[in-house]
Amino acid sequence: MKMKELLLFLSGVLCVSADVLHENIRITGCSESDGEFMYGLDGEEIAYTDFNKQKIIYPQPPFIDPFTYQEGVYELAVGEQQTCKHNLKVDLKAYKNPPMQQDAPSGVMMYTRDEVEFGEKNTLICHVTGFYPAPVNVSWTKNGQKVTGSSINVPYPNKDGTFTQISRLQITPQLGDIYGCAVAHLVLPKPVTKLYEVDSAAQSDPGVGPAVFCGVGLTVGLLGVAAGTFFLIKGNECS
Ligand SMILES: *[C@@H]1O[C@H](CO)[C@@H](O)[C@H](O)[C@H]1NC(C)=O
Repeated sequence: MKMKELLLFLSGVLCVSADVLHENIRITGCSESDGEFMYGLDGEEIAYTDFNKQKIIYPQPPFIDPFTYQEGVYELAVGEQQTCKHNLKVDLKAYKNPPMQQDAPSGVMMYTRDEVEFGEKNTLICHVTGFYPAPVNVSWTKNGQKVTGSSINVPYPNKDGTFTQISRLQITPQLGDIYGCAVAHLVLPKPVTKLYEVDSAAQSDPGVGPAVFCGVGLTVGLLGVAAGTFFLIKGNECS
């Protein structure tokens, strides 16, 4: 009986997660000098095309079962770029070179991927959104000095037609370090800079949570043992 209830409960949970609407996208974008072809799922990159390296890149996180698309995807991407560039020319002429939509980034956020532990490797993330056209250029500084070695994903389309790009920098946070993320975009007269300071508040603090959970858990456990013992003794008395 108990088992059946448990199974019912579990299948309920599974149904809910199956009901979530997922968004799988494939985009082709081009300008006169640049192009993009990518697949995404729920705001994450699955695959994108590196036209310089002439191949599809799969920037999938290590915790998923990795997969690749069938052969011929790179050729498909190249074909679509040709079509896109051709259409762009035709459309621009037909519409008499309309003014381009121009949106500066509406949000730049900086945060670490993991909770900060001084001296332990981490990833600093600069999340830029709400801009058009793509792309943005992101450069990094540490204590005022330029640093290299960051990576950036290809522009990801938002629902409103603007784009998001995320730049990452591997860091080993030390108390007092100040990191800067400078975002350059066509519409900005000069780059917008955000700063991230590694201070003692940044270090993760386990707080009182675990202590409270442990205390409550222990109390409930002990009460259980007490109640169990009580009924055991009572039961023995009755029989
Ligand atoms: C981004 O960098 C590229 C290459 O250095 C440059 O051609 C382009 O103008 C830059 N874009 C912006 C918006 O600064």
